[in-house]
Amino acid sequence: MTDLADDLSLLRDLERRLLVYKFGIEELMTKLRILSEEFDYVHQHDPIEHITNRVKKPEGILEKLRRKGFPLEVDRIGDYLDDIAGVRVICPFVSDVYRVSAMLARQHDLKILRTKDYIAAPKPNGYRSLHLIVEIPVFLSDRVEHVKVEVQLRTIAMDFWATLEHKLFYKYDDSPPADFVDELMSSAMIAAQLDDRMESLHRRIHQDDH
Ligand code: GTP
Ligand code: MG
Repeated sequence: MTDLADDLSLLRDLERRLLVYKFGIEELMTKLRILSEEFDYVHQHDPIEHITNRVKKPEGILEKLRRKGFPLEVDRIGDYLDDIAGVRVICPFVSDVYRVSAMLARQHDLKILRTKDYIAAPKPNGYRSLHLIVEIPVFLSDRVEHVKVEVQLRTIAMDFWATLEHKLFYKYDDSPPADFVDELMSSAMIAAQLDDRMESLHRRIHQDDH
């Protein structure tokens, strides 16, 4: 076979493999929508502001496998990469981030493989979010597949910071210049203070509810 034919067949295999990650996302989206609507009904407070998701593009997957030195084995991409499927949950308050995470953790069919709490311990640049790597079963016509999904939970203020930081600095491979780093860090701290202040207002208003 020519190299081009090899490449095309690899891409086709990868696309077929990615279908199951899309289903994994759909299963998780349903779980999150149910939690959002039902919690809101019971407590008159919706712990989820909005949710986005994406399946990593084939080119992005091939690039990351190459960069990290993993083989291009389509059937095993999930062993090498945790973030092929990604779901981002934006919550109004910090307490909601932990509340949603705890509600997911209690679901028997969902396994939490790993947790990274960048809220308790922010990254050196100031990045805050709660990251979960979860595994969710997807029932196909002839088998069950357990699909890994990276779930990022964050507040609106954390998302504001992370989105703009990414826009400003995605072009830097290493870290940006020192004065930029300081400015970013202090912006992250202001965002964290905003979260604290809004949380106390929220607590005062919802004192007796939950
Ligand atoms: P990756 O190889 O990038 O997946 O790193 P990792 O496996 O150590 O994962 P980590 O949980 O640290 O980060 C995964 C994802 O979180 C990234 O792909 C981003 O979406 C987000 N993230 C992590 N750090 C930052 C950051 O400093 N700024 C922004 N904007 N997003 C971040
Ligand atoms: Mg990762």
